[in-house]
Amino acid sequence: MPLFDDLDLSPNQLELVRQRVAASTGYIDLTSSNPTTQGLLFPPDILAAATYWPTRRYTPDPRGHPAARAAIVHFYTTRTPPLLLDLDDIFITASTSEAYSLLFGLLCEAGDNLLVPAIAYPLFEYLAAVQRIELRSYALDPQRGWQLDPLSLLAAIDARTRAILIVSPHNPTGMVIQQTQPVLVQAGLPIICDEVFATLPYGVPSVPPLAALHPTLPIFTLNGISKLFALPDLKLGWIALNAPARAAYAAQLELLNDTYLSCSSLIQHMLPTIFAQGMPFVQHMAATVRSNLDWARAYLATCPALPHIPTPDGGYYLFVPVPHARDEEALVIRLLEQGVLVHPGYFYGEPPDSYIMLSALTARPQLEQGVRRLCALL
Ligand SMILES: Cc1ncc(COP(=O)(O)O)c(C=O)c1O
Repeated sequence: MPLFDDLDLSPNQLELVRQRVAASTGYIDLTSSNPTTQGLLFPPDILAAATYWPTRRYTPDPRGHPAARAAIVHFYTTRTPPLLLDLDDIFITASTSEAYSLLFGLLCEAGDNLLVPAIAYPLFEYLAAVQRIELRSYALDPQRGWQLDPLSLLAAIDARTRAILIVSPHNPTGMVIQQTQPVLVQAGLPIICDEVFATLPYGVPSVPPLAALHPTLPIFTLNGISKLFALPDLKLGWIALNAPARAAYAAQLELLNDTYLSCSSLIQHMLPTIFAQGMPFVQHMAATVRSNLDWARAYLATCPALPHIPTPDGGYYLFVPVPHARDEEALVIRLLEQGVLVHPGYFYGEPPDSYIMLSALTARPQLEQGVRRLCALL
């Protein structure tokens, strides 16, 4: 069947209401993942000084420009615990999403499957569909801070499972894997670990690179400047291979990345300067998100309709249980009609109960106005 032929691509009920409300009274958007619309703008003077016009030449490298890869290797030495990598362990792509797509192609043939968390941000199903790959879900346990459920993970593996996808900090629950997971060792499968929110710890002191916790498993670590430096428009992501992943896959991945060379040379040239001068901005962004999460959690805790506000380990989302709401969509539509947009939990898959998602990336005045209105309505 041609791709997406089986999908109903017309706007759903929530989107129709959103368009109607946007055209009349408007609404406060509590779902933004776009830092550039929330007052978090990477310093433009650093970007302007980092460009390469006078010395511009095209010197493509299938793994990415060496100076850009060196900056990424250095970034992993600053993590807690540090992850020691070589220049040749890094593959630069145009985005984390493209990195996923390359790895799906590298690891699977049509009909194979990948394990994904039962709740996850909605991207994997489309990337997998492109390559005719099946996704099988494993549960995250809300009673244990949404950590991996080992039994469910083992039960999901079959003879055609090629890798396990992990997002840490997880979108949207904020879960961070902080310790070695015996179940991953037992499964022995390659792991794709998305760490795009790694510099935003909240309930935990730091986000350990999963590859540092699991040096014996083949691990592909994904990240990019979209979340790390709030530069989603400049399009640069990467895949970092640890030693077991490099031994088994680096040569094939080099050919695959060389087939596209999709990341622009301009942003690759800019990357060392962005890393060297951009860390104060990263810290400012982390402090802003922390303060927004503190305020939103404290305010939501005063709302009698919300029994428990879990503390996310990291990231910038709040995944809030609304146990009294049997119909998430009806609740979210009612809230939207009263001028507040949140996401229903089902946008993220199959949560075990009713949830709404809100983003603490939202600029503070809107966040306060929106959360106050949300509580009044609930
Ligand atoms: C967990 C996670 N990974 C990856 C991405 C996409 O990153 P990129 O812009 O690099 O494709 C997102 C975007 O929201 C995300 O939430």
